[in-house]
This record gives sequence, structure tokens and C-alpha cells, in this order.
Amino acid sequence: MDAVAEMWRNMAEQHLRYDPQRWDWTDDYVGVQRRQLLGTMDDPNHLLLVAQDEAGQVVGYLLAVIMEPGPIWRIRLRGEITDICVARRHGRKGIGRMLMERALEELRELGAEDVVLRVSEANRSAIKLYQKVGMRLVTHEMYRRL
Ligand SMILES: CC(C)(COP(=O)(O)OP(=O)(O)OC[C@H]1O[C@@H](n2cnc3c(N)ncnc32)[C@H](O)[C@@H]1OP(=O)(O)O)[C@@H](O)C(=O)NCCC(=O)NCCS
Repeated sequence: MDAVAEMWRNMAEQHLRYDPQRWDWTDDYVGVQRRQLLGTMDDPNHLLLVAQDEAGQVVGYLLAVIMEPGPIWRIRLRGEITDICVARRHGRKGIGRMLMERALEELRELGAEDVVLRVSEANRSAIKLYQKVGMRLVTHEMYRRL
């Protein structure tokens, strides 16, 4: 879990650089996220995938959730990829793509009929990865502080 929390810290810092207002984390954001991740391990609606190297070191992880979007939707179950992180030193080796492909497969097996995710416009490498596994941009998020 420490390796996963460390990757999450890198992702959180990266987003803070993109926009410090939108990603305005609390002081203990890594600790909180760590506890939340541990909680997802017992939740049948969450899917936590972990990629390891030959030595068993964790080099990437993906978290997804499956949910009912509600009665106005024709589909009954929707998957959402909430996190994907690969350790920097293992970047660009196909690990992110492997995690995404596996998640899509598992979400389908769990009954999801579609999948959504949110990505910062500034995160070009993640956008490319998502496009490579068939995701397309359908919405923009707009933001302002009140
Ligand atoms: C985005 C991320 C998960 C990609 O993981 P990865 O294991 O490096 O990705 P892959 O090696 O599977 O690459 C798949 C494709 O993504 C794109 N890509 C990945 N890293 C890239 C980079 N640094 N620059 C440009 N394109 C990149 C490429 O199109 C690549 O295909 P190619 O190598 O055949 O050209 C990883 O960079 C990461 O953890 N980033 C920090 C966390 C983050 O931003 N997560 C997404 C939050 S929405």
C-alpha cells in the first residue's frame, strides 16, 4: 500500500501544478487517500488492480468503481476509472495500457455496459493512453471558485 500511496502522491502533486484551486488537497491528503484505498479492498463495487515487476515491487495501480447510473439511463451498470498511476521509473513500458485493458475487461465481466473517467486537459500522456484503449472525449469540465 505504501508504493500505491506514493504513486498517488505524485499524481496529486501533478494535478496541483495543473490547477491549485481545482486540486486543493488537504494537508493529510495522502493519508486520507491511503485509508480510502484500503477501504475499497473489501468493497465488491470497487476494482483495485496492481501491477508488479518481476521482483514483486508494485509499479502501477488502477482503481475503478461500478455503479448504477440511475433510472433515466438505459444502461444498468456503469464503470468509472477513478485512478490510474504508474511509477515514474516504469513509465512508457506499456503498464498503463495493460492496466486499462484489464480493467475494461473486468468491468465488462462485472456487467458494466459503459465506462467513464475524468482527465485533466493538461494531462496529454493520460489522454493519449485513454484514446489508445478506445475512450473518446465527450465532455469538458468547467470550474470556478466561489
Ligand atoms: C498516464 C500514465 C498512467 C501512463 O502510464 P504508462 O505506463 O506510462 O503508459 P503506457 O506505457 O502504457 O503508454 C500508453 C500510451 O500512452 C501515451 N503516453 C504514455 N506516457 C506518455 C508520455 N510521457 N508522453 C507522451 N505519451 C505518453 C503514449 O501514447 C503511449 O503509447 P506509446 O508508448 O505506444 O506511444 C502514467 O504516465 C502516470 O501514472 N501518470 C501520472 C498519473 C496520472 O496522470 N494518471 C492519470 C490521471 S487521469
